[in-house]
Amino acid sequence: DKILVLHGPNLNLLGLREPQHYGNATLDSINQTLIELGKNHQVEVTTFQSNREYELIERIHAAYVEGIAYIVINPAAFTHTSVALRDALAGVKIPFVEVHLSNVHAREAFRHRSYFSDLATGVICGLGAQGYEFALTFAIKKLKTQ
Ligand code: DQA
Repeated sequence: DKILVLHGPNLNLLGLREPQHYGNATLDSINQTLIELGKNHQVEVTTFQSNREYELIERIHAAYVEGIAYIVINPAAFTHTSVALRDALAGVKIPFVEVHLSNVHAREAFRHRSYFSDLATGVICGLGAQGYEFALTFAIKKLKTQ
């Protein structure tokens, strides 16, 4: 079983970026935790971050070819803007969980709308880096029991 964890724009700045919203953990440490979690369950976890919409779309298309069974995605600012990224996920039909570190609903109104939530299996927000772990644990369990 293979699971892809995708991170959108500016998440490479985690640790440095607005820690009051996004916490102190770096993207590397988050990814390492997720890869380890996968290993403990014989699941291959691949991670990818990009600041470019194009690269994220291409990565989703490649995921289809690779037979990725589940995606955990934090589309970051593209959450609120990207029909193209939404269409990529809809196109490959790979089930996904949407994750946000911050509670987007407690923030600016423009963060309340997501182009992904209605297609997602579920959405986690406001739980910080742990949100990724919960999403991955869910996806692993889903794959093991199907
Ligand atoms: C985010 C929330 C988005 O509104 C924001 O643009 C981000 C990160 C989060 O993880 O809380 O870049 O997706």
